[in-house]
Amino acid sequence: MKLQPAFILILVTFACTSEKTQPQPAIIPQPLQMETPPGFYRLSEKTRINYDEGLENEALLLTQYIANQTGFMLEATTERNQRNVIRLELSELVDTPEGYTLQVDGKKIRIKAQTAAGLFYGIQSLRQLMPVQQGETVKIPAIKITDEPRFPYRGMHLDVCRHFFEVDFIKKMLDAMAAHKLNRFHWHLTEDQGWRIEIKKYPELTQIGAWRNSTLIGHASERPEKFDSIRYGGYYTQEQIAEVVEYAAKRHITVIPEIEMPGHAQAALATYPWLGCFDQKVEVWNKWGVSENVYCAGKESTFEFLEDVLSEVADLFPGEYIHIGGDECPKANWEKCPHCQARLKTEGLADEHELQSYFVQRIEKYLNEKGKRIIGWDEILEGGLAPNATVMSWRGEEGGIAAARQQHDVIMTPNDICYLDHYQAGPEGEPLAIGGMTTIKDIYTYDPVPGVLDEEEQKYILGTQANVWTEYIPTPEHAEYMIFPRLCAMSEVCWTAPGKKELSGFMRRLERHKTTLELLGMNFRPFE
Ligand code: ACM
Ligand code: ZN
Repeated sequence: MKLQPAFILILVTFACTSEKTQPQPAIIPQPLQMETPPGFYRLSEKTRINYDEGLENEALLLTQYIANQTGFMLEATTERNQRNVIRLELSELVDTPEGYTLQVDGKKIRIKAQTAAGLFYGIQSLRQLMPVQQGETVKIPAIKITDEPRFPYRGMHLDVCRHFFEVDFIKKMLDAMAAHKLNRFHWHLTEDQGWRIEIKKYPELTQIGAWRNSTLIGHASERPEKFDSIRYGGYYTQEQIAEVVEYAAKRHITVIPEIEMPGHAQAALATYPWLGCFDQKVEVWNKWGVSENVYCAGKESTFEFLEDVLSEVADLFPGEYIHIGGDECPKANWEKCPHCQARLKTEGLADEHELQSYFVQRIEKYLNEKGKRIIGWDEILEGGLAPNATVMSWRGEEGGIAAARQQHDVIMTPNDICYLDHYQAGPEGEPLAIGGMTTIKDIYTYDPVPGVLDEEEQKYILGTQANVWTEYIPTPEHAEYMIFPRLCAMSEVCWTAPGKKELSGFMRRLERHKTTLELLGMNFRPFE
């Protein structure tokens, strides 16, 4: 890593801080309970990592983190009875699966957790307590932490269709998510503007569907529309997908693939016109918005195709969930299509909303039989919710509230709070964005559990996530700028108990957290 001048200043500040004026630890997300007795552990190259069986992966990652921050290459071993150790221990005494305790004193560092995931989160906290500093010893302030997450679902979504992001960037984001104790990566893989996942049975999806001939320039509202006439695209091979899934799993992140249906399907229809209502030739879309070219809900061939695709997807992603989209599906073609209209009659459906519900329920049944559950955007409530579906509420919280009342699991992602493609400041002086304005404060003060739900209904709120749509985010650097530091605020919404959240304290910690963002190599938006 190349040290920036500002960064060196931070190091010097660290080194000059006397023991008496030792600042309060600045961990993000804020832990549940923390005590800061006086004293230090002196980390040196003689320190050993001592770990329980089953924690090799965590011990190895810790070794890498320490090497990165201090230059010490520590030995990691399962042999007990050593002094001067960082001890990683599995213990039933920690009573939540993702919780941990972390103790640092003059003699040792000890992290205990019930599971490897909890242990991993203890390591992430330790990392943030450890200065970025080279020397003979590195002082880590004494501390006692007892911590656990508020929500089991703590996510980030990334649209790799409007703009494509290489595997290296995905891994970088997974590292950044892990550092913030986020555990679900929602990978938006298919869209009108590009199909990004290799499907062996349908190779043309990535030979044709992954490439568009041109892209809109400027904002979608500008007239006249202008296009760049540059061929654009990319996709992930199944090998790369497996590599990402494994990389994520090592960081205790489950990858949730999103295969959009019945709408946002123009890239699939551009590949295979028979997937649409009128077998019409269309191009992979070159502008932003909602295309009317959606899958035909009448033809059996549509379902055969999607089941084949989902079968490969299910094999690639070991997590329980597959996201099937379900948002923004215009019904204009269905209203005119003889196949769709015949389906309405044979299934006794009242209208096209019920046809969409039929579509989603049929896909859900297929995936349930494969041992998977579905998530859909809140439009899947329209025309009747599929029996086992989890709802991702994006048009505000209303969909989530309605779903929880129907005893369905919910992930809250209301767009005014959770959409990181919105402006975060300005808009003067900011890069072109889709619109909106979502500040750190808007995110930080969000509570994903609506007060209008009773206690029983509130249990269906699994958590929340930040969504990163990329129409106006063409490069990795730009994505990082939009994501950070707002994702830091989101991590605290996901993890931290409501009573422990406080904006001004968060902003102070965020200042110190720049060190972590620098370590992660993030092009974060400057903040004061
Ligand atoms: C969405 O933003 N269309 C889910
Ligand atoms: Zn049709």
